[in-house]
Amino acid sequence: MNPEEFRAAGHQLIDWIADFRTRLPTLPVRSPAAPGEVRRRLPVEPPTGTVPFDQLLSDLDEVVMPGMTHFQHPAFYGFFPANASLSSVLGDLASGGLGALGITWQANPALTEVEEVMCDWMRQLVGLSTDWRGTIFDTASTGGLVALMAARERASRFSMREGGLQALPSPLVVYTTEEAHSSIPKAALLAGFGDDNIRLVEVDRSTFAMDPAALGAAIKEDIAAGRKPAVVVATVGTTATTAIDPVKAIAAVGRSNDLWVHVDAAMAGTAMLLPECRWMWEGVDDADSLVWNPHKWMGTVFDCSLFYVKDPAHLVGVFSSNPSYVRAAVDGQVTQYRDWGIPFGRRFRALKLWFQLELDGVESIKERVRRDLAGAQWLKEAAEATPEWRVLAPVPLQTVCLRHEPTGRSSDEVDAHTLSWVEAVNKSGQAYLTPARLDGQWMVRVSIGSLTTERSDLEALWGLMRSAAEAQ
Ligand SMILES: Cc1ncc(COP(=O)(O)O)c(C=O)c1O
Repeated sequence: MNPEEFRAAGHQLIDWIADFRTRLPTLPVRSPAAPGEVRRRLPVEPPTGTVPFDQLLSDLDEVVMPGMTHFQHPAFYGFFPANASLSSVLGDLASGGLGALGITWQANPALTEVEEVMCDWMRQLVGLSTDWRGTIFDTASTGGLVALMAARERASRFSMREGGLQALPSPLVVYTTEEAHSSIPKAALLAGFGDDNIRLVEVDRSTFAMDPAALGAAIKEDIAAGRKPAVVVATVGTTATTAIDPVKAIAAVGRSNDLWVHVDAAMAGTAMLLPECRWMWEGVDDADSLVWNPHKWMGTVFDCSLFYVKDPAHLVGVFSSNPSYVRAAVDGQVTQYRDWGIPFGRRFRALKLWFQLELDGVESIKERVRRDLAGAQWLKEAAEATPEWRVLAPVPLQTVCLRHEPTGRSSDEVDAHTLSWVEAVNKSGQAYLTPARLDGQWMVRVSIGSLTTERSDLEALWGLMRSAAEAQ
């Protein structure tokens, strides 16, 4: 494809995307596709020739669209908001068009320096201290793994340079809670801590937040047993219920025991744009590393996960690799983000953040976040005021966890009832919700925050949920 052909096709594609976004509310939220249905619409053999762009666009409509569950739909309340603001989509397109690869600073000075500035803008926008330096990873899962590897090397005094974990006299221990995202225990396993050395610290059963006294007790017990506490992961806005671990108290316990403190605010970070929400991560400046995802609620198209660290020199000590073909005269004067994490080549992710901030403006993002916080309170109050509905966890952010509990039913019957009415809602295509387990029972999470979800959408959802539950 030459630039002129690209220009023509690109105009068509932009029109297609704009039309798609306009007609989104008329589409079913959850894909009606059965397993294998999309695959069957594609030829088994790779193409031998070429097709005109028009043909590909109609394949997008016929092959891909029926297999799409629409996160951008105003009635999307599943998982968590993963908004793709069109301003950031333009930034992503610019990044792809430039075809940049940030292997070293010299390989693309703009890639590194725009990223440094974006990370610093975002730091200021959420009120973090100047002690933090940031980078952009693909996901919070990567950030969690990097944090745990950095913590491992600090606790083991760079065991990787000798016999690794296998040569350590005492096992290193990771502390988190059962409410932490699954990427945290996964990162602990990948970083070599081992399942026996992951402690799920008790949570307060009414808030689902980590109990710092229980953390202190668990650390004491491990030390007495000859193990070495290495790292604690606190979550601000857990995945299931958006519970808020008390970062300040956790960091105090962690620091007094020489632990690395990692804060996972993947979802809640967006709320920290609002000064009135920052109590939720009070003490965050006492942590060693922090992750939050503009690619969730804030609306930067996936993938864009901010990772902040206090001591980048330590990260470089853990992750640096310096083959001869990347050395340059500027080494030592510039940031080499390659040495801050795992990949060698890095995308120009900062462009989509920059485009979104400049084109949409921070104030409009904040306004939207406030709208969603208020929407969640509205739904919580509506459910609390309705017989047989129960709100199961505090609602500090945009997620409401609830259950319809018809009188006289056993907990197994309520479980079956919950899964059945949620499926009825999802199958209708009019809204999408994800059920989850909480305290051993099924419940429904209503995760509000799609770009275009207004109060009228929430009112329609509440009506739909009630009629689906009452019809079962
Ligand atoms: C609290 C929390 N941490 C981490 C993640 C994982 O995010 P990512 O997909 O960026 O790895 C999620 C996603 O749901 C989350 O809610």
